[in-house]
Amino acid sequence: MTHDRVTDADDIGHNDSSNPDFDTVLQGFLTRRGLLRGSFGTAATLLVGGGLLGCGSGDPAPVVPPVTPPVTPPVTNPPPAPTTLQLNFDPVAKSVADMLTVPVGYTARVLYALGDPLSPLVPHYTNNGTEPGASFTQRAGDHHDGMNYFGLDSNGRYAPDSSTRGLICINHENITQIFLHANGPTAAPRPVDEALKEINAHGVAIYEVARAADGNVSVVRESILNRRITPNTPMQITGPAAGSRLLRTLNSLTGTESRGTINNCATGNTPWGTFLTCEENWAGYFARAAGDNAVRGGDTARAVRALTRYGIGQGTAGSYAWASAAASDPSDWTFRRWDASQSGSSLDGSDDYRNEPNTFGYVVEIDPFNPLSMPRKRTAMGRFAHEASAYAKPVAGKPVVFYMGDDSRGEYVYKFVSAASWLEADANAGAAVGDKYLDAGTLYVAKFNADGSGEWLPLTPGNPAIAYYANYAFEDQADICINTRLAADAVGATKMDRPEWTAVNPKNGDVYLTLTNNNNANRPVAGVDAANPRSYGSGGNANGHIIRLQETGGEGAATTFKWDIYLFGAPAAADAANVNVSGLTAANDFSSPDGIWFDSRGICWIQTDDGAYTGTTNCMMLAAIPGSVGDGGPREITNTVGAATSTVTTHVAAASTEANLRRFLIGPKGCEITGIAMTPDMKTLFVNIQHPGENTSVAQMLGGIPESSWPTLDGAARPRSATVVISKDDGGTIGGHLV
Ligand code: FEO
Ligand code: CA
Ligand code: CA
Ligand code: CA
Repeated sequence: MTHDRVTDADDIGHNDSSNPDFDTVLQGFLTRRGLLRGSFGTAATLLVGGGLLGCGSGDPAPVVPPVTPPVTPPVTNPPPAPTTLQLNFDPVAKSVADMLTVPVGYTARVLYALGDPLSPLVPHYTNNGTEPGASFTQRAGDHHDGMNYFGLDSNGRYAPDSSTRGLICINHENITQIFLHANGPTAAPRPVDEALKEINAHGVAIYEVARAADGNVSVVRESILNRRITPNTPMQITGPAAGSRLLRTLNSLTGTESRGTINNCATGNTPWGTFLTCEENWAGYFARAAGDNAVRGGDTARAVRALTRYGIGQGTAGSYAWASAAASDPSDWTFRRWDASQSGSSLDGSDDYRNEPNTFGYVVEIDPFNPLSMPRKRTAMGRFAHEASAYAKPVAGKPVVFYMGDDSRGEYVYKFVSAASWLEADANAGAAVGDKYLDAGTLYVAKFNADGSGEWLPLTPGNPAIAYYANYAFEDQADICINTRLAADAVGATKMDRPEWTAVNPKNGDVYLTLTNNNNANRPVAGVDAANPRSYGSGGNANGHIIRLQETGGEGAATTFKWDIYLFGAPAAADAANVNVSGLTAANDFSSPDGIWFDSRGICWIQTDDGAYTGTTNCMMLAAIPGSVGDGGPREITNTVGAATSTVTTHVAAASTEANLRRFLIGPKGCEITGIAMTPDMKTLFVNIQHPGENTSVAQMLGGIPESSWPTLDGAARPRSATVVISKDDGGTIGGHLV
C-alpha cells in the first residue's frame, strides 16, 4: 500500500540522456584470479592436546628396565578464541506506532534534537516556532542526516580510539517548514526572519559528546569545538574548477570562494581524519525567472543545457522562495543569491547570481578540530546530487579512492581516484593533507554490463566520447567537474534506480550501493537491465535494491569490476519468484534502502527512507552480515505490469537468512531513518530520526494533532528530528559479538 507522503526533491529525475538502461554488450567474464575474496565465516581452530604416554593394549610388556614415565601435568586447553561474528539481538517487529523501538535488552535515548542549543548562552528550545532565525547559528538544525564520530583525547585532539569523548559531525539536510514557525510559513514575499531561520536550520553541526562511566552520553554544550556551518558560511573552492568563469558571482569575482553548503545528505570521512559533507538536492532551492533561458548571455545554449540537466527550471520561485525575502533589501546577498536568473550585463556572471547554482553540488571537506577553518569544496570529485562518499581502505603507495552516488532517478555511480599515492604517515594527519588527495585525480562513472562485469569510464577531456560529445561542448576539466552529469551522459554510464549511500566492507573491500527505488516512467517493464532488473506492482522498482561491486584484483584504481545484487527490498508476502527475490521474511523485510554503513567488525547497517511500505511499517534499520561479491549466482526475473512483460537475467548474492539479516529498529510515524555512527568500542550507537510527522498539515499542527509527536510522545507536541543514542543494557557490544 502506498502511503500518502510528501515528495522529496530527490524523487525527481532530470536525466534526459539516451544512455542505456539495458546493456546488451556481452563482456568476457572477468578472471577471478587475484580478486580479493575475504571471508569472516567459521575458521576452524586446530587444538593440539596433551596426553599421557602409554602402550597399546594387548602388546606384551617390554623387556626393559622399568622406567617411570614422565609425569605430564594435566593440560587445560584454552577456550577457542571467538572468531565468528553473530548478530546478538532478536528482530524487532514491523510497526506503524508512533514510537521508536529497539530490540529487547537495548535502550535508546534522545541526545540532540531540532533546536537544541549548542552553547550554554542559548536558551532551551521552546518548540513552538518562536525562536529568532539568527539563533539557529547556535542551535541544532533540522532533518538530521548522515553523521560521523571522531574520538577526542583529553586535550581535544583527534584520538581515533577514544569512545568516551568525541565529536559528532552531522548534516542537517532540509527542514519541515511548518514546525519552524509559530503559525506555519508565511507565503511569499517571505518575511526576512522566517527565511533566515529556514536557511540557518540547514547545513552542518559539529558537537562534542561525552560518555559517563554509567554509559550515558550527553552533549557538551560548553565545548569550544561546537560549531554550526550554514548556507551562509564562507567556503573555499578547490580543485580543477577553482577560478572557473562558471563559478564567478557577485560574492566571488574570482570564482574561488562561495557561500555555504546546503541539502547536506550523507557524509564520509577521510583516512587522514577529516569530515566530508555531501550536497544533494541543492537545485530545488533556486528561483529562476520565466523567460530566463532566452536572456542568458554569451553562452546561451550551453548554459541552458546545463541548467536543464541539473533540474534548475525557469519560472520557479525555489522550494522556500527565499529570494523573495530580498524584496526589503535587494543588496542583501543572503536572500538575493537564491535567484539564479541573469540580471546583470556581464558575459561571465560576475555582476549577478546566475552562476550561484554552480557553487553547489560538491563534496565539502571540513576540519572538525578547527572551528575557524574554512570548509573546502572539492570540485575534483564532481558536481551532482552527492549522496555520500565512502573511501576504500588506503594502501601505501596506491591512490586513495572514494565511491559516490548521484541520487536522482536514472543517475549514476562515480568514483574518484587520487593522483597522489597514499603515505602511511598521512594517516590521521588531519586537514593539512586534504588538498594533496582531493584536488587532483581522475573521476570515473560506472557502466554495469549484463554479464556481471562492469567498467569505470574516465571523465576527462581526453576521453573521445567527451571530446566529441554532440550535446555539450566541454571546455576543459573544470567544465567536466561542474557539469559532471553531462560528461557521464557522454561516456554512456548506466542509469540506476536512484543511487543513495555507498559503503565499503572492511573485511573484503566490496563496495555496497543502495538503489532506493524508481518509478514506472523511469524504470518501466521494457526498460529494466541486469543491474536494475525489477519493474513490478504498478510499474517501477518501488522497493529498491542494494548492489555491490568488487574491483578487479582488489585494486581501488582498477577500471573494471564485477557486481551482484546483495538484497532486493520487498514485502515478505510479495511474489517470491520475481519480487521478493531475496526471500525476505517478517523478521527482515524492508523497502527503499537508503543509508548503508559498515562498522569495523563487518556488520552492515541498512536504513530506509520509504513511501511504498509505510502502510505496513514505519521506516527502519536492519543489521546484516554479508558474504562477498560472487557468492551467489545468476537469476532470471520475469517482470509483469498489466499486459507488459520482460525477462532479464541478473546476478544475485547468496541467500540471506534471519541469522544474518535482522530488523534492529523501527522509527516513529512519518520519519526516515538516516545517519549512523558508533564509538570505536562498539558500545554506543548514534542514529538519526529524520522528519518524524512530516505529513502533518498546518491545521493539524495548530490543532494539536500532528502525525507524530515524537520524541515528546504526548500526541500534541510538534515532532522533532533528533539523534538518538542506543546502548546495550548489559554494557555489551551493539548489534553483534564474536562467538
Ligand atoms: Fe538525502 Fe538521497 O537522500
Ligand atoms: Ca539519503
Ligand atoms: Ca532517500
Ligand atoms: Ca528525508
